[in-house]
Amino acid sequence: MKIIRAKDYKDMSRKAANIISAQVIMKPNCVLGLATGGTPVGTYQQLIDWYNKGDVDFSEVTTVNLDEYRGLPRENPQSYWSFMHDNFFDHVNIDPARINLPDGTNLDAAAECKRYDEVIHNVGGIDLQLLGIGHDGHIGFNEPGAAFELGTHCVDLTQETIEANKRFFDGNVDLVPKQAYTMGIKTIMQARKVLLVANGAGKAEIIKKAFFGPVTPEVPASILQMHPDFTLVGDAEALSLI
Ligand code: PGA
Repeated sequence: MKIIRAKDYKDMSRKAANIISAQVIMKPNCVLGLATGGTPVGTYQQLIDWYNKGDVDFSEVTTVNLDEYRGLPRENPQSYWSFMHDNFFDHVNIDPARINLPDGTNLDAAAECKRYDEVIHNVGGIDLQLLGIGHDGHIGFNEPGAAFELGTHCVDLTQETIEANKRFFDGNVDLVPKQAYTMGIKTIMQARKVLLVANGAGKAEIIKKAFFGPVTPEVPASILQMHPDFTLVGDAEALSLI
């Protein structure tokens, strides 16, 4: 495990974007595993900035996103498909045919999860997986207690995650989908590199617990301690307890 200390959110975003752009420069046709959430937005902005300056080219890159709400159509502004297009894909030269997310509108969970695992397999696996971390230690939608050996699967969101995500649904808990398709811990662990970004004092406790505590399904991110090429980039506040 490698820990990179950043001063603040901007610095964290820049350092994370540096690692991603290095990956794309070294292997232009790489497979990037991408994440939604507030934390990576600055990373995407930095990558867009470097793309606009001609410093990084996404034309051959394939992407696979971590997760998607079950039941939300792509066009819904709160779908992760929309999030990724608004925050990243629409602003760079990524080939739409190489963008992959779970299909929230396929309500046949077994079929959709199998399809998504095949997509990841068929693109040759993930070269670099970007992650955020939830306050309960979740990665993707792998909530506490999730088995480490799962591929893509359908999950019931915890009340804590529903509460944390209601800010994106007019603050209305009833509008937050209650299930999601997510890559499993096994899928994430099979990525050749993993990069986790965290900022703010609110993440300090969980960062300490996940990366300096026992490896346990009760803290899903803790398994990353076992990954052979895992980098944590955090700002001073998020890393304040380690
Ligand atoms: P956040 O979400 O980046 O909005 O804090 C992290 C997560 O839940 O994975």
